[in-house]
Amino acid sequence: MGKFYITTPIYYPSDKLHIGHAYCTTVADALARYHRVKGDDTFFLTGSDEHGLKIQRKAAEKGVTPIEYVDVIIANFKLLWQKLNISNDDFIRTSEERHHKVVQDALQKIYDQGDIYKKNYEGLYCVPCESYWLERQLDENGCCPDCHRPVEKMQEESYFFKMSKYQDWWLQFIEENPDFIQPESRRNEMINFVKQGLEDLCITRTTFDWGIPVPFDKKHVVYVWFDALLNYLTGIKYGVDDEFFKRFWPADLHLVGKEIVRFHSIIWPIMLHALSVEMPKKIYGHGWLVVDGAKMSKSVGNVIDPLGLIDEFGADSIRYFLLREINLGNDGNFSRDALIQRINADLANDLGNLLNRTVAMIIKYHGGVVKNAKVNGAVDNDLINLAQKTVADYTKQMDNMDLTTAVKTVWALIGKANKYIDETAPWALAKDESKAGELQTVMYNLAETLRLVAIMAEPFIPDAAPKIFQQLGLGGKELRLADATWGGLPDGTKVEKGEPLYPRITIDEDGNTIIGGKKYVPPAN
Ligand code: MSP
Repeated sequence: MGKFYITTPIYYPSDKLHIGHAYCTTVADALARYHRVKGDDTFFLTGSDEHGLKIQRKAAEKGVTPIEYVDVIIANFKLLWQKLNISNDDFIRTSEERHHKVVQDALQKIYDQGDIYKKNYEGLYCVPCESYWLERQLDENGCCPDCHRPVEKMQEESYFFKMSKYQDWWLQFIEENPDFIQPESRRNEMINFVKQGLEDLCITRTTFDWGIPVPFDKKHVVYVWFDALLNYLTGIKYGVDDEFFKRFWPADLHLVGKEIVRFHSIIWPIMLHALSVEMPKKIYGHGWLVVDGAKMSKSVGNVIDPLGLIDEFGADSIRYFLLREINLGNDGNFSRDALIQRINADLANDLGNLLNRTVAMIIKYHGGVVKNAKVNGAVDNDLINLAQKTVADYTKQMDNMDLTTAVKTVWALIGKANKYIDETAPWALAKDESKAGELQTVMYNLAETLRLVAIMAEPFIPDAAPKIFQQLGLGGKELRLADATWGGLPDGTKVEKGEPLYPRITIDEDGNTIIGGKKYVPPAN
């Protein structure tokens, strides 16, 4: 048993969270859940990144204070994560007092050791990205190279963090820790970036005040990225509860979108190094969810509302689709058609039917009681061997964060179990008195396969997994990977008939979604 501290980025309070945001959190949640099922001491942190000029301006437009503005949005974030079955252990808001203290102490420490200096700065500022750019870095239209929106000329007296001083340390650290930045393509990008020369980082602003005051010069507020990155320390009580902090630090994984790998893999380690805090284990840059090739974003106008989607199809289905369809690290396409197809084929048909048929047969043939006559022949052994291999492969794949392959591995076992029903033809065995033992064995093997499937699938479909246990007569039992060894289902277990896990979905000719035969009506609001 080990420990696992995983973080998502903390999200900007955008009034339009989309399914792309939900992707990162879903992946992190699946990994956190896996480590819990595995028995690791797990801490999963997410939150919100609330400061900066952009928020201050939006709040002013609405005639409210910044905190009033963000409070409403953050309540929605929390609702979304709850509906998506996200199991975060804490939700950190950068506007919280506990975070201000960590940021101010960190800044003071770095200042006291001489790594921060003041200078007059004039630069081109991208407000949406809260970043300064040099003329030569702008895109062909003279706009921000990241978001391609216009930049503004700004002049201010600022404090700078001596990043350049740490360039050689960083290059050496990355060379000695080749797994630190993943996937490898991102790592190479970062090395090339740093080799071109690291500039010192402007870490304070005076042009607005919605931020954390700089402790040694109260006219200034802290630059949002310097503020935001430190949430990963605040969340586990850095400087407040040493025992708790040491229980989880170093972070095992900072999972982030590919466009913010630079902040996490260059600025963050250098900040930590300057603070004499141990390095996190890994930064992983995942790909984007795209719609027709374009990153989902409010300005492009192609956002898909996750709350509506969850209401229509259920959290498990959305989670399953995201994890199954998108290889971590690559971009992946979102489409309703593909989602519906996956729900029908993989969830309703393969998994849902397997459970339904198994429970119905055990009730019909054995009054609902599972017995193992242990008369396994070649067909049975094939299933048992695959089940055992599946647990081993799945564990390796999940440990390597290869979620898509892990999902496929589990579903291959489900496919095999469905085939096993066809091969063993229990309805024929039931007609032959002399095959009573074989029939018991087949029923046991099916129920036992489903037990292992439920344990392995919990990180992907946390709503259904305990329901599978319930129908198998294991209601209320904890799902633990340590129990995923063949033969763990006790003789005499009594199954329970339950609702179908996933109703089939069709679209009628008027475009309505028909779920399990009923027309879906979105909630009025
Ligand atoms: N506030 C910063 C992070 C600070 S972490 C110290 C930020 N916030 S964000 O709201 O813009 O993005 C949060 C995460 O959502 C990022 O990892 C980003 O990559 C991810 N995504 C935003 N749109 C996405 C897609 N269309 N697809 C997948 N992930 C996407 O950056």
